[in-house]
Amino acid sequence: MKISVIGTGYVGLVTGTCLAETGNEVICVDIDVNKIENMRKGVVPIYEPHLDVLFERNINAKRLKFTTSLKEGLDHGDIIFLALPTPEDEDGSADLRYVLGVADEIGQLITDYKVIVDKSTVPVGTAEKVHEVISKNAKVDFDVVSNPEFLREGFAVDDFLKPERIVIGSSSDRATELMGKLYKPFVRSGNPIIIMDEKSAELTKYAANSFLAAKITFMNEVANYCEKVGADVDKVRIGMGTDSRIGKRFLFPGIGYGGSCFPKDVKALHKSGKDEDYDFKILEAVLKVNKKQKLALLPKINSYFESNIKGKTFALWGLAFKPETDDIREAPALDMINELLANGAKVKAFDPEAMDNVARKMGDKIEFANSMYDVLEGADALVICTEWSIFRTPNFNTIRELLKNSVIFDGRNLYDLHDIEKEGFSYYSIGRKD
Ligand code: UGA
Repeated sequence: MKISVIGTGYVGLVTGTCLAETGNEVICVDIDVNKIENMRKGVVPIYEPHLDVLFERNINAKRLKFTTSLKEGLDHGDIIFLALPTPEDEDGSADLRYVLGVADEIGQLITDYKVIVDKSTVPVGTAEKVHEVISKNAKVDFDVVSNPEFLREGFAVDDFLKPERIVIGSSSDRATELMGKLYKPFVRSGNPIIIMDEKSAELTKYAANSFLAAKITFMNEVANYCEKVGADVDKVRIGMGTDSRIGKRFLFPGIGYGGSCFPKDVKALHKSGKDEDYDFKILEAVLKVNKKQKLALLPKINSYFESNIKGKTFALWGLAFKPETDDIREAPALDMINELLANGAKVKAFDPEAMDNVARKMGDKIEFANSMYDVLEGADALVICTEWSIFRTPNFNTIRELLKNSVIFDGRNLYDLHDIEKEGFSYYSIGRKD
Protein backbone atom coordinates (compact mmCIF):
# COMPACT_ATOMS: atom_id res chain seq x y z
CA MET A 1 0.00 0.00 0.00
CA LYS A 2 1.04 3.62 -0.41
CA ILE A 3 1.43 5.41 2.88
CA SER A 4 2.39 8.95 3.85
CA VAL A 5 3.34 10.03 7.34
CA ILE A 6 3.13 13.75 8.13
CA GLY A 7 5.49 14.64 10.96
CA THR A 8 8.69 12.67 11.55
CA GLY A 9 8.94 12.96 15.31
CA TYR A 10 9.19 9.90 17.45
CA VAL A 11 5.82 8.36 16.57
CA GLY A 12 5.92 9.37 12.89
CA LEU A 13 9.36 7.96 12.29
CA VAL A 14 8.68 4.64 14.00
CA THR A 15 5.32 4.33 12.22
CA GLY A 16 6.80 5.12 8.80
CA THR A 17 9.77 2.82 9.21
CA CYS A 18 7.78 -0.13 10.56
CA LEU A 19 5.11 0.21 7.87
CA ALA A 20 7.85 0.16 5.22
CA GLU A 21 9.19 -3.03 6.84
CA THR A 22 6.00 -4.89 5.85
CA GLY A 23 6.40 -3.90 2.19
CA ASN A 24 4.45 -0.65 2.04
CA GLU A 25 5.81 2.29 0.07
CA VAL A 26 6.19 5.05 2.64
CA ILE A 27 6.93 8.75 2.30
CA CYS A 28 7.66 10.70 5.48
CA VAL A 29 7.01 14.44 5.38
CA ASP A 30 8.48 17.08 7.66
CA ILE A 31 8.94 20.86 7.50
CA ASP A 32 12.43 20.57 9.01
CA VAL A 33 14.71 20.72 5.95
CA ASN A 34 17.84 19.68 7.86
CA LYS A 35 16.16 16.66 9.38
CA ILE A 36 14.85 15.51 6.00
CA GLU A 37 18.26 15.95 4.37
CA ASN A 38 19.94 14.00 7.14
CA MET A 39 17.38 11.21 7.00
CA ARG A 40 17.92 10.94 3.25
CA LYS A 41 21.57 10.31 4.09
CA GLY A 42 20.51 7.57 6.49
CA VAL A 43 20.87 9.50 9.76
CA VAL A 44 18.23 8.47 12.32
CA PRO A 45 17.35 11.63 14.30
CA ILE A 46 16.44 9.83 17.55
CA TYR A 47 17.91 7.04 19.64
CA GLU A 48 15.59 4.05 19.66
CA PRO A 49 16.79 0.43 19.83
CA HIS A 50 16.56 -1.45 16.49
CA LEU A 51 15.22 1.55 14.58
CA ASP A 52 18.54 2.18 12.80
CA VAL A 53 18.60 -1.32 11.29
CA LEU A 54 15.05 -1.13 9.92
CA PHE A 55 15.61 2.45 8.79
CA GLU A 56 18.67 1.58 6.72
CA ARG A 57 17.14 -1.58 5.27
CA ASN A 58 14.01 0.19 4.08
CA ILE A 59 15.83 3.21 2.68
CA ASN A 60 18.08 0.86 0.71
CA ALA A 61 15.03 -1.05 -0.52
CA LYS A 62 13.58 2.33 -1.62
CA ARG A 63 10.43 1.69 0.41
CA LEU A 64 11.14 4.59 2.78
CA LYS A 65 11.51 8.10 1.38
CA PHE A 66 11.52 11.61 2.76
CA THR A 67 10.27 14.97 1.59
CA THR A 68 9.55 18.46 2.85
CA SER A 69 6.67 18.81 0.38
CA LEU A 70 3.25 18.16 1.88
CA LYS A 71 1.83 18.10 -1.65
CA GLU A 72 4.20 15.28 -2.66
CA GLY A 73 3.24 13.37 0.49
CA LEU A 74 -0.47 13.80 -0.13
CA ASP A 75 -0.24 12.81 -3.80
CA HIS A 76 1.63 9.63 -2.82
CA GLY A 77 -0.34 8.08 0.04
CA ASP A 78 -3.72 6.34 0.03
CA ILE A 79 -3.50 6.47 3.80
CA ILE A 80 -2.15 9.67 5.36
CA PHE A 81 -0.94 9.44 8.96
CA LEU A 82 -0.88 12.65 10.99
CA ALA A 83 1.90 12.22 13.57
CA LEU A 84 2.19 15.85 14.55
CA PRO A 85 3.07 17.36 17.91
CA THR A 86 0.26 18.20 20.32
CA PRO A 87 2.21 20.18 22.92
CA GLU A 88 0.82 21.13 26.27
CA ASP A 89 -0.95 24.50 26.21
CA GLU A 90 -0.49 26.94 29.09
CA ASP A 91 -3.70 25.65 30.71
CA GLY A 92 -2.69 21.96 30.39
CA SER A 93 -4.85 21.19 27.36
CA ALA A 94 -3.42 19.79 24.13
CA ASP A 95 -2.54 22.42 21.53
CA LEU A 96 -4.07 21.34 18.19
CA ARG A 97 -2.47 24.13 16.14
CA TYR A 98 -0.25 21.77 14.08
CA VAL A 99 -2.88 19.08 13.53
CA LEU A 100 -5.57 21.52 12.41
CA GLY A 101 -3.08 23.59 10.38
CA VAL A 102 -2.09 20.55 8.34
CA ALA A 103 -5.76 19.48 8.08
CA ASP A 104 -6.50 22.84 6.47
CA GLU A 105 -3.78 22.30 3.84
CA ILE A 106 -4.96 18.73 3.24
CA GLY A 107 -8.41 20.05 2.33
CA GLN A 108 -6.86 22.28 -0.30
CA LEU A 109 -4.40 19.75 -1.72
CA ILE A 110 -6.02 16.31 -2.00
CA THR A 111 -7.21 15.27 -5.43
CA ASP A 112 -8.52 11.75 -4.76
CA TYR A 113 -9.91 9.63 -1.90
CA LYS A 114 -7.71 9.52 1.21
CA VAL A 115 -7.94 8.02 4.65
CA ILE A 116 -6.60 10.60 7.09
CA VAL A 117 -5.36 8.96 10.30
CA ASP A 118 -4.97 10.80 13.60
CA LYS A 119 -1.98 9.06 15.15
CA SER A 120 -1.06 11.83 17.59
CA THR A 121 -2.56 11.76 21.07
CA VAL A 122 -5.45 14.16 20.64
CA PRO A 123 -8.44 15.14 22.78
CA VAL A 124 -11.85 13.60 22.30
CA GLY A 125 -13.57 15.24 19.35
CA THR A 126 -10.41 15.96 17.33
CA ALA A 127 -11.24 13.56 14.48
CA GLU A 128 -14.52 15.42 14.12
CA LYS A 129 -12.68 18.78 14.07
CA VAL A 130 -10.13 17.51 11.54
CA HIS A 131 -13.03 16.32 9.37
CA GLU A 132 -14.70 19.73 9.56
CA VAL A 133 -11.51 21.61 8.68
CA ILE A 134 -10.70 19.38 5.69
CA SER A 135 -14.33 19.57 4.50
CA LYS A 136 -14.11 23.34 4.17
CA ASN A 137 -12.00 23.03 1.00
CA ALA A 138 -11.97 19.37 -0.07
CA LYS A 139 -13.43 18.62 -3.48
CA VAL A 140 -13.00 14.85 -3.17
CA ASP A 141 -14.14 12.13 -0.79
CA PHE A 142 -12.09 11.40 2.34
CA ASP A 143 -12.42 9.79 5.76
CA VAL A 144 -10.83 10.64 9.08
CA VAL A 145 -10.03 7.84 11.52
CA SER A 146 -8.47 7.82 14.96
CA ASN A 147 -5.68 5.30 15.49
CA PRO A 148 -3.96 6.05 18.80
CA GLU A 149 -0.40 4.95 19.40
CA PHE A 150 0.60 2.81 22.40
CA LEU A 151 4.37 2.69 21.79
CA ARG A 152 6.78 2.85 24.69
CA GLU A 153 10.03 4.69 24.17
CA GLY A 154 12.88 2.21 24.19
CA PHE A 155 10.57 -0.57 22.93
CA ALA A 156 8.85 1.34 20.15
CA VAL A 157 9.90 -0.88 17.25
CA ASP A 158 8.93 -4.06 19.08
CA ASP A 159 5.65 -2.52 20.24
CA PHE A 160 4.83 -1.47 16.67
CA LEU A 161 5.72 -4.79 15.08
CA LYS A 162 4.01 -6.89 17.76
CA PRO A 163 1.23 -4.75 19.26
CA GLU A 164 -1.01 -6.14 22.00
CA ARG A 165 -3.87 -4.44 20.23
CA ILE A 166 -4.62 -1.95 17.48
CA VAL A 167 -7.40 0.54 18.19
CA ILE A 168 -9.19 2.08 15.25
CA GLY A 169 -11.90 4.68 15.65
CA SER A 170 -13.79 4.86 12.40
CA SER A 171 -17.33 5.33 11.17
CA SER A 172 -16.55 4.52 7.54
CA ASP A 173 -16.51 0.90 6.28
CA ARG A 174 -14.20 1.85 3.43
CA ALA A 175 -11.61 3.37 5.79
CA THR A 176 -11.94 0.54 8.32
CA GLU A 177 -11.28 -2.05 5.62
CA LEU A 178 -8.14 -0.26 4.40
CA MET A 179 -6.81 0.14 7.95
CA GLY A 180 -7.52 -3.54 8.68
CA LYS A 181 -5.55 -4.55 5.58
CA LEU A 182 -2.63 -2.31 6.57
CA TYR A 183 -2.36 -3.71 10.10
CA LYS A 184 -3.05 -7.38 9.30
CA PRO A 185 0.64 -8.37 9.16
CA PHE A 186 1.15 -7.03 12.69
CA VAL A 187 -1.58 -9.09 14.39
CA ARG A 188 -0.89 -12.54 13.02
CA SER A 189 -0.45 -13.72 16.62
CA GLY A 190 -4.19 -13.24 17.09
CA ASN A 191 -3.99 -9.97 18.98
CA PRO A 192 -7.08 -7.91 18.19
CA ILE A 193 -7.78 -4.96 15.94
CA ILE A 194 -10.47 -3.22 17.96
CA ILE A 195 -12.87 -1.10 15.94
CA MET A 196 -14.88 1.59 17.68
CA ASP A 197 -16.16 5.11 17.14
CA GLU A 198 -13.63 7.94 16.83
CA LYS A 199 -14.34 9.53 20.22
CA SER A 200 -13.96 6.27 22.12
CA ALA A 201 -10.66 5.60 20.36
CA GLU A 202 -9.39 9.06 21.27
CA LEU A 203 -10.39 8.58 24.89
CA THR A 204 -8.89 5.07 25.02
CA LYS A 205 -5.42 6.56 24.65
CA TYR A 206 -5.84 9.15 27.39
CA ALA A 207 -7.56 6.68 29.71
CA ALA A 208 -4.83 4.06 29.22
CA ASN A 209 -1.96 6.46 29.90
CA SER A 210 -3.73 8.10 32.83
CA PHE A 211 -4.55 4.72 34.34
CA LEU A 212 -0.92 3.61 34.10
CA ALA A 213 0.25 6.91 35.61
CA ALA A 214 -2.26 6.40 38.42
CA LYS A 215 -1.08 2.82 38.94
CA ILE A 216 2.53 3.97 39.39
CA THR A 217 1.44 6.85 41.57
CA PHE A 218 -0.64 4.59 43.79
CA MET A 219 2.38 2.36 44.26
CA ASN A 220 4.54 5.39 45.06
CA GLU A 221 2.10 6.36 47.79
CA VAL A 222 2.12 2.80 49.14
CA ALA A 223 5.95 3.00 49.13
CA ASN A 224 5.90 6.26 51.07
CA TYR A 225 3.52 4.71 53.58
CA CYS A 226 5.75 1.62 53.86
CA GLU A 227 8.50 3.90 55.11
CA LYS A 228 6.21 5.23 57.84
CA VAL A 229 5.19 1.82 59.12
CA GLY A 230 8.36 -0.18 58.47
CA ALA A 231 7.00 -2.39 55.68
CA ASP A 232 8.94 -3.30 52.52
CA VAL A 233 7.30 -2.11 49.30
CA ASP A 234 9.11 -4.74 47.23
CA LYS A 235 7.38 -7.47 49.19
CA VAL A 236 4.04 -5.64 49.05
CA ARG A 237 4.47 -5.15 45.30
CA ILE A 238 4.99 -8.87 44.69
CA GLY A 239 2.20 -9.80 47.08
CA MET A 240 -0.20 -7.51 45.24
CA GLY A 241 1.02 -8.01 41.68
CA THR A 242 0.56 -11.79 41.67
CA ASP A 243 -3.21 -11.13 41.73
CA SER A 244 -3.88 -11.28 37.98
CA ARG A 245 -6.50 -8.55 38.33
CA ILE A 246 -3.71 -6.23 39.41
CA GLY A 247 -0.78 -7.62 37.40
CA LYS A 248 2.95 -7.44 38.07
CA ARG A 249 3.80 -4.69 35.60
CA PHE A 250 3.87 -0.97 36.29
CA LEU A 251 4.02 -1.43 40.02
CA PHE A 252 7.61 -0.30 40.48
CA PRO A 253 7.86 2.59 42.90
CA GLY A 254 10.46 5.27 42.46
CA ILE A 255 11.00 8.98 42.10
CA GLY A 256 7.93 9.46 39.92
CA TYR A 257 7.00 9.07 36.28
CA GLY A 258 8.23 11.41 33.56
CA GLY A 259 8.49 11.50 29.78
CA SER A 260 6.67 13.22 27.01
CA CYS A 261 3.43 11.28 27.47
CA PHE A 262 2.19 10.52 30.98
CA PRO A 263 2.67 14.05 32.39
CA LYS A 264 1.10 15.71 29.35
CA ASP A 265 -1.74 13.24 28.93
CA VAL A 266 -2.81 13.18 32.58
CA LYS A 267 -2.94 17.00 32.56
CA ALA A 268 -4.81 17.08 29.26
CA LEU A 269 -7.46 14.57 30.40
CA HIS A 270 -7.87 16.46 33.65
CA LYS A 271 -8.30 19.71 31.74
CA SER A 272 -10.76 18.22 29.20
CA GLY A 273 -12.77 16.92 32.17
CA LYS A 274 -12.97 20.45 33.54
CA ASP A 275 -14.06 21.78 30.14
CA GLU A 276 -17.04 19.40 30.31
CA ASP A 277 -17.70 20.35 33.91
CA TYR A 278 -16.33 17.01 35.10
CA ASP A 279 -13.85 17.01 37.93
CA PHE A 280 -11.38 14.11 37.54
CA LYS A 281 -10.38 14.12 41.23
CA ILE A 282 -8.17 11.06 40.91
CA LEU A 283 -6.10 12.73 38.17
CA GLU A 284 -5.64 15.84 40.25
CA ALA A 285 -4.23 13.66 43.03
CA VAL A 286 -1.94 11.84 40.55
CA LEU A 287 -0.50 15.14 39.33
CA LYS A 288 0.07 16.41 42.83
CA VAL A 289 1.64 13.22 44.20
CA ASN A 290 3.94 12.76 41.21
CA LYS A 291 5.27 16.31 41.46
CA LYS A 292 6.22 15.69 45.07
CA GLN A 293 7.51 12.18 44.42
CA LYS A 294 10.19 13.44 42.03
CA LEU A 295 11.91 14.90 45.09
CA ALA A 296 11.33 11.93 47.39
CA LEU A 297 15.07 11.44 47.89
CA LEU A 298 15.65 14.98 49.08
CA PRO A 299 14.50 14.61 52.71
CA LYS A 300 16.71 11.51 52.96
CA ILE A 301 19.69 13.43 51.59
CA ASN A 302 19.03 16.34 53.93
CA SER A 303 18.66 14.06 56.89
CA TYR A 304 21.96 12.24 56.12
CA PHE A 305 23.87 15.49 55.69
CA GLU A 306 22.04 17.17 58.60
CA SER A 307 20.45 19.73 56.26
CA ASN A 308 23.82 21.01 55.20
CA ILE A 309 24.37 20.15 51.54
CA LYS A 310 25.77 23.53 50.54
CA GLY A 311 29.12 23.01 48.79
CA LYS A 312 28.69 19.21 48.73
CA THR A 313 29.09 17.38 45.40
CA PHE A 314 26.51 14.83 44.29
CA ALA A 315 27.29 12.24 41.63
CA LEU A 316 24.16 11.43 39.64
CA TRP A 317 23.61 8.18 37.74
CA GLY A 318 20.89 8.52 35.11
CA LEU A 319 19.38 11.60 33.50
CA ALA A 320 16.91 10.17 30.96
CA PHE A 321 13.31 9.87 32.19
CA LYS A 322 13.72 6.10 31.91
CA PRO A 323 16.34 3.65 30.58
CA GLU A 324 16.93 2.96 26.87
CA THR A 325 16.17 6.50 25.77
CA ASP A 326 17.96 9.84 25.54
CA ASP A 327 14.67 11.64 26.26
CA ILE A 328 14.85 13.97 29.26
CA ARG A 329 11.39 15.50 29.02
CA GLU A 330 9.90 15.79 32.53
CA ALA A 331 12.74 13.56 33.79
CA PRO A 332 12.78 13.31 37.61
CA ALA A 333 16.59 13.74 37.44
CA LEU A 334 16.10 17.34 36.29
CA ASP A 335 13.93 18.22 39.31
CA MET A 336 16.51 16.57 41.52
CA ILE A 337 19.39 18.52 39.96
CA ASN A 338 17.55 21.86 40.20
CA GLU A 339 16.76 21.28 43.84
CA LEU A 340 20.33 20.27 44.71
CA LEU A 341 21.69 23.34 42.90
CA ALA A 342 19.13 25.61 44.60
CA ASN A 343 20.46 24.35 47.92
CA GLY A 344 24.02 25.28 46.99
CA ALA A 345 25.21 21.76 46.13
CA LYS A 346 27.26 20.80 43.07
CA VAL A 347 26.19 18.09 40.63
CA LYS A 348 28.25 15.80 38.40
CA ALA A 349 26.26 13.46 36.19
CA PHE A 350 26.60 10.40 34.00
CA ASP A 351 24.00 8.90 31.66
CA PRO A 352 24.69 6.42 28.83
CA GLU A 353 22.60 8.40 26.29
CA ALA A 354 21.10 11.61 27.65
CA MET A 355 24.08 13.79 28.61
CA ASP A 356 24.07 15.85 25.39
CA ASN A 357 20.41 16.72 25.85
CA VAL A 358 20.96 17.81 29.44
CA ALA A 359 24.07 19.81 28.49
CA ARG A 360 21.98 21.67 25.90
CA LYS A 361 19.31 22.43 28.48
CA MET A 362 21.43 23.22 31.52
CA GLY A 363 24.66 24.54 30.02
CA ASP A 364 27.50 24.58 32.52
CA LYS A 365 25.30 24.48 35.61
CA ILE A 366 26.41 20.87 36.13
CA GLU A 367 29.44 18.78 35.17
CA PHE A 368 29.41 15.56 33.19
CA ALA A 369 31.69 12.53 33.28
CA ASN A 370 32.66 9.93 30.72
CA SER A 371 31.82 6.90 32.78
CA MET A 372 29.71 5.76 35.70
CA TYR A 373 32.86 5.51 37.80
CA ASP A 374 34.59 8.75 36.71
CA VAL A 375 31.57 10.69 37.93
CA LEU A 376 32.08 9.37 41.48
CA GLU A 377 35.57 10.72 42.01
CA GLY A 378 35.58 13.01 45.04
CA ALA A 379 31.76 13.21 45.23
CA ASP A 380 30.09 13.23 48.64
CA ALA A 381 27.33 10.80 47.66
CA LEU A 382 25.83 8.83 44.77
CA VAL A 383 22.24 9.57 43.69
CA ILE A 384 20.53 7.17 41.25
CA CYS A 385 17.71 8.61 39.14
CA THR A 386 17.32 6.17 36.20
CA GLU A 387 17.51 2.36 36.25
CA TRP A 388 19.87 1.77 33.30
CA SER A 389 20.94 -1.91 33.31
CA ILE A 390 24.60 -0.93 33.59
CA PHE A 391 23.91 0.49 37.08
CA ARG A 392 22.38 -2.75 38.38
CA THR A 393 25.56 -4.71 39.03
CA PRO A 394 28.30 -2.16 39.71
CA ASN A 395 31.66 -2.78 41.31
CA PHE A 396 30.86 -1.71 44.86
CA ASN A 397 34.55 -1.68 45.86
CA THR A 398 35.29 0.92 43.19
CA ILE A 399 32.28 3.00 44.28
CA ARG A 400 33.48 2.92 47.89
CA GLU A 401 37.02 3.90 46.90
CA LEU A 402 35.92 6.85 44.76
CA LEU A 403 33.16 8.36 46.90
CA LYS A 404 34.02 10.47 49.95
CA ASN A 405 31.24 8.80 51.95
CA SER A 406 29.91 5.29 51.38
CA VAL A 407 26.36 6.45 50.81
CA ILE A 408 23.89 5.78 48.00
CA PHE A 409 20.51 7.45 47.51
CA ASP A 410 18.65 5.20 45.09
CA GLY A 411 15.47 6.53 43.47
CA ARG A 412 14.86 3.28 41.55
CA ASN A 413 15.41 0.53 44.15
CA LEU A 414 18.17 -1.19 42.19
CA TYR A 415 19.89 -3.12 44.95
CA ASP A 416 18.99 -5.88 47.31
CA LEU A 417 18.97 -4.57 50.87
CA HIS A 418 21.04 -7.47 52.25
CA ASP A 419 23.65 -7.25 49.48
CA ILE A 420 24.15 -3.54 49.93
CA GLU A 421 24.38 -3.88 53.70
CA LYS A 422 27.11 -6.50 53.27
CA GLU A 423 28.97 -4.07 51.00
CA GLY A 424 28.99 -1.60 53.88
CA PHE A 425 27.00 1.24 52.35
CA SER A 426 24.50 3.56 53.96
CA TYR A 427 21.66 3.01 51.52
CA TYR A 428 18.46 4.98 51.08
CA SER A 429 15.81 3.85 48.58
CA ILE A 430 12.05 4.22 48.11
CA GLY A 431 9.60 2.40 50.37
CA ARG A 432 12.14 0.09 52.00
CA LYS A 433 14.08 0.06 55.23
CA ASP A 434 16.80 2.78 55.18
C1 UGA B 1 3.96 5.58 27.68
C2 UGA B 1 3.02 4.36 27.58
O1 UGA B 1 3.55 3.27 28.33
C3 UGA B 1 2.84 3.94 26.12
O2 UGA B 1 1.91 2.88 26.03
C4 UGA B 1 2.32 5.14 25.33
O3 UGA B 1 2.17 4.84 23.95
C5 UGA B 1 3.31 6.29 25.46
O4 UGA B 1 3.44 6.63 26.87
C6 UGA B 1 2.75 7.45 24.69
O5 UGA B 1 1.71 8.00 25.06
O6 UGA B 1 3.29 7.77 23.59
P1 UGA B 1 6.61 5.94 27.67
O7 UGA B 1 6.32 7.37 28.03
O8 UGA B 1 7.59 5.64 26.59
O9 UGA B 1 5.25 5.19 27.24
O10 UGA B 1 7.17 5.28 28.97
P2 UGA B 1 6.78 4.13 30.02
O11 UGA B 1 7.68 2.99 29.84
O12 UGA B 1 5.35 3.89 30.03
O13 UGA B 1 7.23 4.87 31.38
C7 UGA B 1 6.64 6.11 31.76
C8 UGA B 1 7.18 6.55 33.09
O14 UGA B 1 6.71 5.74 34.15
C9 UGA B 1 8.71 6.53 33.21
O15 UGA B 1 9.13 7.72 33.85
C10 UGA B 1 8.98 5.33 34.09
O16 UGA B 1 10.17 5.46 34.84
C11 UGA B 1 7.78 5.35 34.99
N1 UGA B 1 7.46 4.03 35.59
C12 UGA B 1 7.04 3.00 34.79
C13 UGA B 1 7.55 3.86 36.95
O17 UGA B 1 7.92 4.79 37.71
N2 UGA B 1 7.22 2.64 37.49
C14 UGA B 1 6.79 1.61 36.71
O18 UGA B 1 6.49 0.54 37.28
C15 UGA B 1 6.72 1.79 35.33
